[in-house]
This record gives sequence, structure tokens and C-alpha cells, in this order.
Amino acid sequence: MATALADIPDHVPSELVRDVDIFNVNAIDPDIHIGWKKLQDASPSLIYTPRNGGHWIPMRAHVIERVFQDADVFINGGEWVPPNPKDMLPLIPIMSDGALHRAYRSFLMPYVVGKPLLAAIERARGLAIDLIEGFRADGACDFAVDFAQHLPIEVFLSLVDLPSEDRPYLASLAEVVRMPDEAERMVAFQKMYEYVAGYVDKRTKNPGNDLISTIANGSVLGRPMTREEIVGECTQVLIGGLDTVASMMGFIAAHLAVNVPLRRRLVAEPRLIERRVDEIIRRFGVAGPSRQAVADIEIDGITVKAGDTLFLATALHGLDESRWNNSLEIDLDRSSKGTDFQTFGSGPHRCPGAALARSEIILFMEEWLKRIPDYSLDPEKPMVAASGNVTGVLSLPLKWEV
Ligand code: HEM
Repeated sequence: MATALADIPDHVPSELVRDVDIFNVNAIDPDIHIGWKKLQDASPSLIYTPRNGGHWIPMRAHVIERVFQDADVFINGGEWVPPNPKDMLPLIPIMSDGALHRAYRSFLMPYVVGKPLLAAIERARGLAIDLIEGFRADGACDFAVDFAQHLPIEVFLSLVDLPSEDRPYLASLAEVVRMPDEAERMVAFQKMYEYVAGYVDKRTKNPGNDLISTIANGSVLGRPMTREEIVGECTQVLIGGLDTVASMMGFIAAHLAVNVPLRRRLVAEPRLIERRVDEIIRRFGVAGPSRQAVADIEIDGITVKAGDTLFLATALHGLDESRWNNSLEIDLDRSSKGTDFQTFGSGPHRCPGAALARSEIILFMEEWLKRIPDYSLDPEKPMVAASGNVTGVLSLPLKWEV
């Protein structure tokens, strides 16, 4: 459903206005990344859309980088796209800035590298093998529902030291969180909050060596974290790593289903998966965080005023031809490094889960291509994807010979 149109502010020249709904990029092209690219190819470096409260969209790689990196002018703790619902609890740490943000973030960092990362990936690898072996003989699966969403949940359960038995419950909520109905989505979010809150209370009293215990007993700016902050931060770790990872896997699986020479090369030379994963991640930006300007600033001769909001479609960065020749192609001989692209953002909010996500994507490709090297899209049941703050793959029916 199209959103209402906001008034165009006086400082926005009419030639920069485009009617773009971030929740309906499929209207430009059913392939959402191609939709973003078509818009990019036909746009100046910044456009303004009256949808979703009215906001800017930086269209070019250099503008996206500048906004990510100038945290003095572009803050995370202001208004987002779409406008924040009334009484919404801020997501932590993503909707905070400055010293408070750094303090919140410091709790996460030890858990997304080193031993906790390796332990989480080992657990997720075991699950990936079990899931694939569970449906391999069927010759078909819904990749999004039967496979991809389960891996990030298992990773989260490992970081917070909770049993795999909780995964089906969280997976049922994750499915609802990806549905278009906002009321249903909010109920599922609330249930995730409640799930996390139950463990927060237990670990506050009896801490262990896990992420929830660390956050629950943490201090920020010389005071203990409030319960609301603790639950908010633990829930964001769950949500932040869920749709992003699952959708990225979905886009990769769909791409490999139809780009047979690329898939065959990865099957024949599996070492390329780890070596070239950054080029694959570059191609599929899925996250779309927001910023609010707190000062007037000029970018490429265009004035963004204090109070304006911006939507950072990370997909656009990886598709900008001024950075990547033939950007729609995954070229395993191209050298793309994690710092060259913005799929994980940059600046103070750069995704803390980037290394973890990267390892999850490697393990999915390694274990899948080893067991199901030849597969295709199901022509009877097309893939369902939706654009938004995270571009999600809701359903991806795949088939193979058994
Ligand atoms: C392919 C997978 C992923 C993608 C594409 C992705 C993308 C991003 C991006 C672009 C940001 C920056 C947001 C901003 O600048 O406002 C971000 C932040 C964040 N991500 Fe990820 N992410 C992924 C996986 C994960 C995982 C696995 C976790 C869990 C550990 C995670 C947790 C977070 C958190 C907590 C933040 C907020 C950081 C802050 O505000 O300082 N993400 N992510």
C-alpha cells in the first residue's frame, strides 16, 4: 500500500524530487537491486522523495560514505525513515550517538570476534548440515523459511548461551516479523522483547559468561544500564543479525541458482568462497539505516538542512558504476575488500556483526554447494522479496534432482 505524500520543503529544488517508496522498490523492477540501480542510473547524487514522511536518498557511493562518516552532522538518535512510531523505545545501540553510543557498543565487541565468534559459527555449521541433510532427499525447499533464517538465530543463541531448543519459537516469530502486516509485525517484535526480557532478569541475578549477562550488568556514563536499555540492546543484537544475514543468503542463493558458470566455479574451487566472499557481499546491500541532519550542509551543490532525514540504501553503494565496472556482475577476479563497500556501513556505527555475518555466509555457501551443487529456482513458485529498512527475502522456493 502506498504511503501518504509529505509536503516538499522549500529548500528542495523540484528537479531533485522523485516519487520513491522505500517499501516498494519492486515497482521500479521486480528485482529490487536492479530497481535501485535503474533509479541510480537516472538520478543526481541526492534525490528527495515525499514518501514515508519525506526524506533524502543519497544515490552515489561518495555521498553515502560521507553521510555514514560525518557523525557530527548526521546523527542516529533523531528521526528515522519511516518516522519513528510514537512511544517507540529506541533501538540500542543503533539509535544513539556519541559517548553513550560508544559505551553501549563496547559490551558487544568482545562477543563478535575471537572465541565466541568461532563457537557460534561451529554451532551454526552443525545446524546448516543437519537442515540440508533433512530436506536434501525431498528435492525442494523454501530456502528462506527452511534454511536461511535458522542460522542467525542459532548464532544469537550461541552468543547469549541459550539452548537450540529455543530456535523453533524464535523462528516462528522471525517469520511474522518479515510479514507485510504492521500490526502482526509489532506483536512478534513484542514477543521477542518478552523472550529476551525473561533471560535478562535471570542473568541479572545469576550472571554467566555471555552477552546478555555482560549487558545486564554493564554501566554506561557512570551509572548502571536500565532494564529497558538492557532488553533493548539484547533484542537489537537478535534482530540486527536476523533478517540481514538471512536475506543476504537468500539473494546469494537465488543468484547462484541462475548464474550457473559462477556457481560451477565456486563448486569446483571452494577455496574461492572464503577468498572472494567480499565481492559477493558487495553485490547485495540489504540494510537501509537512517540519519537526521543536525546542521545545514552542502553536498555536490545540494543543500541538506538541519532536521532533514536521509535514508542510506547500502545497496546503492555496491551498485555504483563509478566504483564498480559492470556492478551487477559478481566477478570473482575482482578484488573487493570489506572496507571498499558499505554493505556493513562505515563510521562509528559500522556493523559490529560484520565478521560474524561474513563467516555465516561463507559457511552457508561451503556446506550448501558441497551437498546441493546443482539446483534451480522453482518456476511454479517465484521468489518473494520486499524492500524496506532491510530488504528481505520472504520466500525462495528451490528445486534440485534427487
Ligand atoms: C549480512 C548481514 C548484515 C548486514 C548487511 C548488516 C548491516 C549493518 C549496517 C549497514 C549497519 C550500520 C547501521 C548504521 O550505520 O546506522 C549495522 C549495524 C548493526 N548491526 Fe549489522 N548487519 C549484518 C549482520 C549483523 C549481525 C550478524 C549482527 C549481530 C551481532 C548485527 C548487529 C548490528 C548492530 C548491533 C548494529 C548497530 C551498531 C551501532 O549502532 O553501533 N548485524 N549492520
